[in-house]
Amino acid sequence: TNPLVAFGAGKVILLGEHSVVYGYPAIAGPLSIGVVARGGPSRSCVLDVPVTADAAQKRMMRKAFARAAKLVGEPRVKVTLEPQLPLSAGLGSSAALAVATSRVLLQAAGQAPTAKATARLAWEMEQEFHGTPSGVDHTTSAEEKLILYRRVQSPAGVTGRARALKSPRPVSVVVALAGARSPTKLTVGALRERQALWPERYKRLFGQVGRLVTEAAQAVEAGDLEGLGDAMNVNQGLLNALGLSSPALEDMVFRLRSLGALGAKFTGAGGDGGAVIGLFPEPEPVVARLTRDGVRCFASQLAGPRVQGDN
Ligand code: PMV
Repeated sequence: TNPLVAFGAGKVILLGEHSVVYGYPAIAGPLSIGVVARGGPSRSCVLDVPVTADAAQKRMMRKAFARAAKLVGEPRVKVTLEPQLPLSAGLGSSAALAVATSRVLLQAAGQAPTAKATARLAWEMEQEFHGTPSGVDHTTSAEEKLILYRRVQSPAGVTGRARALKSPRPVSVVVALAGARSPTKLTVGALRERQALWPERYKRLFGQVGRLVTEAAQAVEAGDLEGLGDAMNVNQGLLNALGLSSPALEDMVFRLRSLGALGAKFTGAGGDGGAVIGLFPEPEPVVARLTRDGVRCFASQLAGPRVQGDN
């Protein structure tokens, strides 16, 4: 049989992180880098964890793998993982890993790795990684498109609804890493406590973010990058109001704006540090400039007609 190879894309949240956990919409898109999973012959169903993972990450990966393997009848396959993304940088490495692994497991079990089947299995793995994730990460990774996402709570459990956003113009971001990242569980947990103390105040802010996301989706589909950028800037202000930003993140946000970003904000969990995105029609000179200044960064096109030479 042919060796099985599958890819799971990393993701960035363009707008709407955190409020997405409370049922408000978010926009997220796939990165061109992610995690590659390979399936090889084996007498049992087993995961070869990446050497770069620490002990806790390895334990979690094995647990998540066992949960997914059981659901597809434990096909005889050894899955090896090659992350191209920094683990735990807020770029969806766990979802990328879950999607790549699910695709290999489905194929090894003789099932078609459709976006739907992949997302369903990856969701099971993500629950081991995150507890109660909104589902935006693995849905973006499985769909590999810029999507408008909403978490839906039904009697059957939590699911997600996604709609692909078409853009007449390329939507490209520069992703820059700023400082050491806070664990997602920590920022999500602290926000949960604050909103439980002052529910009306926080509901208002979540509602404002939700409206920005709806307007931003319209801007994407109209090719209005300036409107999208402004919505990102206002979203950053609201993330700060929600108590999720920090000096390291704000510094990078203002740095990207001073380099001409149409909009800039942190992406993902926020907290002490992590990934910041800037919307740039021409990202490459910005990446060159930041790299010269010692900032870890890269460019990624999330939607729209493909630009040659861009990734
Ligand atoms: O794990 P991260 O940094 O990609 O952030 C996840 C985004 C949150 O909205 C904060 C949590 C979630 O489950 O959607």
